[in-house]
Amino acid sequence: MQLLDGKLVSEKIKQDIAREAAEFLTSNGRKPHLVAILVGHDGGSETYVASKMRNCQQVGFESTNIRYEDDITQEELIKKIKELNQDDAVDGIIVQLPLPKHIDPEVVTEAIDHRKDVDGFHPVNLGRMQRNLPCFIPATPYGIMLMLDHYGIQTAGMHAVVVGRSNIVGSPMSILLARNAQPGNCTVTLTHSRTKNLKEEILRADLIVAAIGKKNFVTADMVKEGAIIIDVGINREISTLTKSGYKLFGDVDFERVSSKASYITPVPGGVGLMTIIGLLKNTLAAAKKEVY
Ligand code: GUN
Repeated sequence: MQLLDGKLVSEKIKQDIAREAAEFLTSNGRKPHLVAILVGHDGGSETYVASKMRNCQQVGFESTNIRYEDDITQEELIKKIKELNQDDAVDGIIVQLPLPKHIDPEVVTEAIDHRKDVDGFHPVNLGRMQRNLPCFIPATPYGIMLMLDHYGIQTAGMHAVVVGRSNIVGSPMSILLARNAQPGNCTVTLTHSRTKNLKEEILRADLIVAAIGKKNFVTADMVKEGAIIIDVGINREISTLTKSGYKLFGDVDFERVSSKASYITPVPGGVGLMTIIGLLKNTLAAAKKEVY
């Protein structure tokens, strides 16, 4: 079994991004600029946005975090997004999800100019991704593809099973793995809460992407010998034993599954760190106008 080391790969790619950001500053007299909007006080979202901001600073990007209380109206939020769309000093805009119930995430997603949609959630980017055209690819699937690429894993012809069909991970992941590219060219099964015989489906997989949001959901009896395991889960449990006050668990029972796997991502230290890389690369590409 080989560990797919998110720390190692992300640090290496971050060095390249930092070099390109410095070149961008020299030629343009400003840094690539990401704006992240955070509504409310969801614990996970606070941590993710703080990490995104910190990583931007580490690679020499400008980053702005705009915060609102959870009683902000949808209209006020949209008005702010439209302002940022028009602002030439802003390259990328993300609105951290989930949003409070009274705000429709679809309306918010479509309000962001697709040329600044560095989360890759806008339908224009989604459609262009499906057609293999230049676009912003959602950060987590993008990070996973970069990880597979870094380790030179040839995925052509593999049977990939994606567990979970979210807009953020499972659904775009299934599109990317099926595309005519390396990594890619997989035969993909996209499974979800209504899938019958889920265990049998997962057992057929050469490559498993677990993105269901349930601690230790994928167990050793569901995994074929030699399968590649990508664990997207970030399940938090309160713990008095760690400095942060919580402990993270993946969607995969790492301890028992790892002995059957050919490659596996740890949690923490796997996909989570690569997600940041996807976002940074999209922001740099937006600043350099490489996509649109
Ligand atoms: N919530 C969970 N993951 C993400 C992400 O990648 N982007 C945004 N905007 N919200 C999220």
